[in-house]
Amino acid sequence: MAGVSDHAFRLVCAEHGAQACVTEMVSANAVCYGDKKTAELARIGTDEAPCALQLFGSDPDTVAEAAVRLIADARADENAAVPVAIDLNMGCPVRKIVSTGQGSALMRTPEKAARMVYTLRERIDLPVTVKLRLGWDDDHRNVVEVARLAEENGAAAVTVHGRTRAQMYRPAADYTMIARVKDALSIPVIGNGDVSSADHALDMLKVTGCDGIMIARGALGNPYIFEEIFAILNGKDYTRPSAEQKLHTALHHLSLLCGLHGQRAVLEFRKHAAWYTKGMRGAPAIRAKLCAVENAEEFAELFALLVAQN
Ligand SMILES: Cc1cc2nc3c(=O)[nH]c(=O)nc-3n(C[C@H](O)[C@H](O)[C@H](O)COP(=O)(O)O)c2cc1C
Repeated sequence: MAGVSDHAFRLVCAEHGAQACVTEMVSANAVCYGDKKTAELARIGTDEAPCALQLFGSDPDTVAEAAVRLIADARADENAAVPVAIDLNMGCPVRKIVSTGQGSALMRTPEKAARMVYTLRERIDLPVTVKLRLGWDDDHRNVVEVARLAEENGAAAVTVHGRTRAQMYRPAADYTMIARVKDALSIPVIGNGDVSSADHALDMLKVTGCDGIMIARGALGNPYIFEEIFAILNGKDYTRPSAEQKLHTALHHLSLLCGLHGQRAVLEFRKHAAWYTKGMRGAPAIRAKLCAVENAEEFAELFALLVAQN
């Protein structure tokens, strides 16, 4: 998730059972311009779970060139891990992205999407995966076609978010279309959309027969979702974390973020603080304060107040 899935967030998710992660989407154009901040977004720590690097772009050669550069950077840096795969973003619905032929706009140009997969496969020695939506809109639900082309051109796996671009994030994800992709392909298909509990995960697995599940919003302030799902899949009891445990994780997340960004981490963490405290007694009363916190100690003080009330 752009603006969320940085090194700290990925570590916390892995500590709670995420088996693999994906970086925030990284602009291939910006990498090729030599933008340092963008290259930093692409950096994966050696302490992480297996992590794919996601690239977005509209030109297959530029995307391939960006991947080549970032993989070389990772290999040259002994403190960085090499991504386990390069994931191509063909799902982002944001206007600024699609208006330049990137993200989900690629689903409107299947031939170009296929060429992007093929070109990248030719240039790198890592697996290539693709993140898709169901299509552009209800009249163009072509995910089966684009996923097939991705497979034919060398993709190692696809992830399907069960919505069209026009749907953005509503209504509910359509799992039956993910099932159709699963039926049509031999490579692994990862299902995505609206999984925010173990029950949803079971539903996704049952309806789609998918090989894995990708979770985005369900992990916001709730990295425990991964262990919850594994517990239920393995027939074990699962007890949800207490407010105290959650806020302990939140402070740990904050300290990882501080290690990554220094003082800027406090601003970055405000949104995470709102997610971690969602639904807790007393949280609405301190929401405004959480959004104005200036240093790590203030978060600890506000969290201590909440622990006392929950
Ligand atoms: C804040 C935010 C940022 C996102 N950034 C990305 C991204 O960088 N790359 C991507 O493939 N999807 C991105 N997504 C979409 C999610 O990966 C996912 O497909 C979508 O949220 C549906 O899954 P969910 O119901 O588990 O959230 C983002 C979603 C959110 C909410």
